[in-house]
Amino acid sequence: MALIHTNPKSPLLAKPARSGAPVCFCIALLTLVATLAGAQTVELSIDTSKTGAKIDRNLFGQFAEHLGHGIYDGIWVGQDSSIPNIRGIRKDVVAALKAIKVPNVRWPGGCFADGYHWRNGIGPKRSVTLNPDWGGVIEPNTFGTHEFMDFIDQIGSEPYVSVNVGSGTPREAAEWIEYMTAAEATTLGKERGANGHAAPYKVPYLGIGNESWDCGGNMTPEYYLSQFKIYSRFVRNYDPAQQETDKMLRIAVGPGGGESRWTDWTETIMKGYQQHTWSWEMNGLSLHNYTVMNWQDKFKSEGFGEDEYARFLQETLKMDDLIAKHSAIMDKYDPQKKVALVVDEWGSWYAPLPGSNPGFLVQQNSLRDAVLAALNLNIFTRHADRVRMANIAQMINVLQAMILTDKEKMVLTPTYYVFKMYVPFQDSTFVPVTLDAGKYTRGDVTLPRVDAIAAKGKDGKLWLEVTNVDPNQAVEVQVNLAGVSAKGATGETLTAPKVDSINTFDAPNTVVPKAYSAKASGGRLTLKLEPKSVTVISLE
Ligand code: AHR
Repeated sequence: MALIHTNPKSPLLAKPARSGAPVCFCIALLTLVATLAGAQTVELSIDTSKTGAKIDRNLFGQFAEHLGHGIYDGIWVGQDSSIPNIRGIRKDVVAALKAIKVPNVRWPGGCFADGYHWRNGIGPKRSVTLNPDWGGVIEPNTFGTHEFMDFIDQIGSEPYVSVNVGSGTPREAAEWIEYMTAAEATTLGKERGANGHAAPYKVPYLGIGNESWDCGGNMTPEYYLSQFKIYSRFVRNYDPAQQETDKMLRIAVGPGGGESRWTDWTETIMKGYQQHTWSWEMNGLSLHNYTVMNWQDKFKSEGFGEDEYARFLQETLKMDDLIAKHSAIMDKYDPQKKVALVVDEWGSWYAPLPGSNPGFLVQQNSLRDAVLAALNLNIFTRHADRVRMANIAQMINVLQAMILTDKEKMVLTPTYYVFKMYVPFQDSTFVPVTLDAGKYTRGDVTLPRVDAIAAKGKDGKLWLEVTNVDPNQAVEVQVNLAGVSAKGATGETLTAPKVDSINTFDAPNTVVPKAYSAKASGGRLTLKLEPKSVTVISLE
């Protein structure tokens, strides 16, 4: 029998539409000048003298769960497949992911993690199990620890491993991390060597449980906190290279919304952290927040119009208030911001595509998702002092994916291109911008028309992202460069004919970025931005 996962998480509390300027680290005054009918001019100031937090590259992390075709077919095809692969891992997918410089991948779940027993996925003989959370299908365990680490290595990323708290034991989790990280002298280290990898694996991020308030075991915050302390103490990293520097960071289960149930959770865990002793440590608190309109009757991912575009983006902007709410609680117990808020599940969640297994969470990915991704990434950067990791759900073939595959075919989604365009923001330094966003109104929904962030890149350049949310009107942005000398700017812009434009296997280039350039004179840069577009540029 197929067991279908239904997630009863209720949507966030309904709040009135945001109007006027978004929350921003504004220094200069902002002015919106409505000029010609049908055209808008927005004044935007960048103050490079006031840099903010580092925009951690881990904000651009991914999530890959054993769910539907996220792993099997999406990453893993096996060595005997006719699909080109290296040691069973798809070459086309690896090449595409390398290009977006994925900083970390969270694995093996999700809900799956709290039912995962790592020994099923090592060695020459793999146990065949079931995946009760996601369609009740066979889990062959052919993609296990070594295959995941090989994949991480091939795409040039880092592993974020979630251990099983719900149906596992501290001993099982401790032995898994020992198996991965111990030098070969121990029995578990030797077993890893016998299975093909003599050197310890680096495990920089450890997730202790997943949604332990729900699919991870329906725990109270107090019960979870006591479990977390035990796992934090006994699940050790033995990699000699991770003892003094690059220490493994431990991430606790955090809230899944904004209601009192979730604020109580954050209060309890952070209060516990404040009183922590030498014998346990917590470096991150996770936050899960999907953009979904109605869990019982979700929006469609394709074939929709402007009403659904506006309403869905209104919903996604609630991420800002949610982060602010939990950050404020964290500030009470951790004013030095030692504990990161880790948004390790976020993205759009729509109705499953007709004809797909509902437990596989298959959805299309449109221009709306590209705009949604940009708005969320911008929110994370504005909270970069506290939000230091985020993982979009999920990397391939599941929910808001970067990549869709069908046997030998692969297509890159609009969201993929946003992540590619944002690569220069990885490990950059936030620079405040000031703008009057103006308003875009559709029916009873009013949204900020324009969103923008700026940062000093690792390459020394000043980078700017501007999103024009308005699907009907172009925007002219007058950028006041205040002290920055530049002749112009170059970069890329992403738009498409319709809000629901998608890339398909047959038409993969409907939503792809195109080159963009703009000129500056007299200390001002003029940007003309197409409706419903995401633009990333650097000053030249
Ligand atoms: O991403 C799909 C699921 O959503 C994850 O398994 C779970 O953590 C969340 O409910």
